[in-house]
Amino acid sequence: MATNSKLKICLATAELAPLAKTGGLADVSAALSAYLHHAGHDVRVLMPFYSRIDRTGLRIEPVPRLQNLYITVGPWDIEYSIDRVVLPTNGLPVYLLRCPALYDRPEIYGSGTDEHLRFIFLSRVAIEMCQHMQFAPDIFHCNDWHTALIPLYLRTVYSWDRLFARTRSILTIHNIGYQGVFSADILSDLNLGYSTDRLHQDDLSQGRINFLKTGVLYADLLTTVSPTYAREIQGTEYGIGLDGYLRQRSDRLIGILNGVDYAEWNPATDKLIPHRYSPDDMSGKRVCKLGLMREMGLAGTSRQPVIGIVTRLVSQKGIDLMVKVLPDLLAKRNFSLAVLGSGEPHYELFFESLQRAARGRVSYYRGYNNRLAHWIEAGSDMFLMPSLYEPCGLNQLYSLKYGTIPVVRATGGLADSVAQINPARGTGTGVLFSDYDEAGLYWAISTALTLQANQPLWQKIISNGMAMDFSWEKQGQQYVKLYRWLAGQ
Ligand code: ADP
Ligand code: GLC
Repeated sequence: MATNSKLKICLATAELAPLAKTGGLADVSAALSAYLHHAGHDVRVLMPFYSRIDRTGLRIEPVPRLQNLYITVGPWDIEYSIDRVVLPTNGLPVYLLRCPALYDRPEIYGSGTDEHLRFIFLSRVAIEMCQHMQFAPDIFHCNDWHTALIPLYLRTVYSWDRLFARTRSILTIHNIGYQGVFSADILSDLNLGYSTDRLHQDDLSQGRINFLKTGVLYADLLTTVSPTYAREIQGTEYGIGLDGYLRQRSDRLIGILNGVDYAEWNPATDKLIPHRYSPDDMSGKRVCKLGLMREMGLAGTSRQPVIGIVTRLVSQKGIDLMVKVLPDLLAKRNFSLAVLGSGEPHYELFFESLQRAARGRVSYYRGYNNRLAHWIEAGSDMFLMPSLYEPCGLNQLYSLKYGTIPVVRATGGLADSVAQINPARGTGTGVLFSDYDEAGLYWAISTALTLQANQPLWQKIISNGMAMDFSWEKQGQQYVKLYRWLAGQ
C-alpha cells in the first residue's frame, strides 16, 4: 500500500484535554489525536463522558444508531450511549461514552469499588463501537492500564469478528507506577469465559489481576513516552515488577518522546498569560513575572528569582526531596517559590506550612488551575522537577518554550529533553542532577541560582531552550511510522 495512504486508528483513553485531565495523559491523548486527524488519518477517539466535563461552548450530539445499547459485564447488563463532540480548540472529533451509572462521579478516578468495571467497560465499548460503526481499525491505540485489556479482548472475546482480522494493537505506557491491580474476585467481570487461562496464572493464583501487565503480554507493540524511560523500565529499579516481561518483549518496546501542543503552550500566542513574548522580544516575560508575583502575593522586584512548580503532589514527582531541601535552601539563598498542585494531603500540608513560614517568598495554590499553570510557566525564572521517575514530563517542555530554565533530575523524559548547561560554551538548556538525594537537589537549585546571576549566559541559555522544537508535527510522525510498520503498510 502507498506510504501516504490514510490509516484507520481507534484510540481509547481515560483522559483527554481539555475535557478531562489529571495529568499529561490528557494532553498527549488530545494532541496526538489532533495531529493524526489533521494529517488526514481517520482517528476515532473514545473516552468516558464524565459528569464533571465542562460542557460550556461544546456542541455534544448523540450519535444515531449508537444510543441505548447494552454490554453484559459480569452479572450486569450495562446500558450506554455514544455522543460526539468536535473540540472547538483543534477541530478534533471525540466520541464520549455516556453511562451515568459508571461515570457520574465527582472525581475522574478512584471514587468507588467498581473502578475495574469503569475501565473494562471503556475497553469493551471501544471495540463494540468499532463493530457498530463497521470501522475496521488498522491500529487500536491503548493508553495505560485503563484500556490495556483491549489487546487481550481482541485476541479472545472478539476474535471471531473478521472486522478486526487486520487490526494491530499498541499499548502506550505513560506511567508504569499505575498498573490497575485488582483482586481476582473480579474475574467474572472480565467475561473472558474459557480464555481466563490467558491471564497471568501466577497472579491469579495469588489472588490478583493486573490490567497493565495483561496489556504488556498481549499488545502487538509497546511504546512508552521517552527513549530513556523505555530503557529504565526494563530494569528492576524502574520496572515496578513488570521489568522481566518488558525485557522479554524488548524488541517490541519503543520509546517516543511526547510532543507539545504549541497551539496551547506558546508564549507568543498564549491568551491566558498577562503579556505575550517571543525570542525576538522578551520584554513581555518581565510583565508576566510581575503579574505572577502580584497574583500569588510574592514580594520583591522583578530581580527576585522565582522558581515555579506545577505538579500532582505524589511521590513520583520528588516531593520528598523538596520537603528535605527547600526549607534550608530558603533560609540560605534568596529566591521565591510559586507552587501549584494538589494530591497527597501530607504534601499539601507541607507546602501550606512552608507558605506560612515564608510568607511573601513562598506562595502555594492548592488545587487544579490551568490558567495559573500558564502564568507560572511564563512568569517564573526556573521550573523545578526533581522527579523520582518521569516517563516523559510535559512541564519541562513547556518551560523550555517559555524561557523558564528547567531544574530537573536526569531521569526518563527529563534526561531526553533537557541538556546540561555548559557555562564556558554557553550551551545547554537546563540544570540536571543525577542521584535522587538531598545533595543532588540542593546542588541543582544552588547552581541554577548562581548561573542566573550571570545574565548574558542566562539569556543565552533561555534562547537555546526557546529554539527547541518538540512539536507534535515531529513526534507524531514517529507514531505514524510505527503504525504503518505494524499494519504492514
Ligand atoms: P503527569 O502526567 O505525571 O502529571 P506531566 O508533566 O506529563 O506529568 O503532565 C502534567 C500536566 O498536568 C501538565 O500539562 C501540567 O501543566 C498539568 N498540571 C499538573 N498539575 C496541575 C495543576 N494543579 N493545575 C493545572 N495543571 C496542572
Ligand atoms: C504520565 C507521566 C508523565 C508523562 C505523561 C504523558 O502521567 O507521569 O511523565 O508526560 O504521562 O505521557
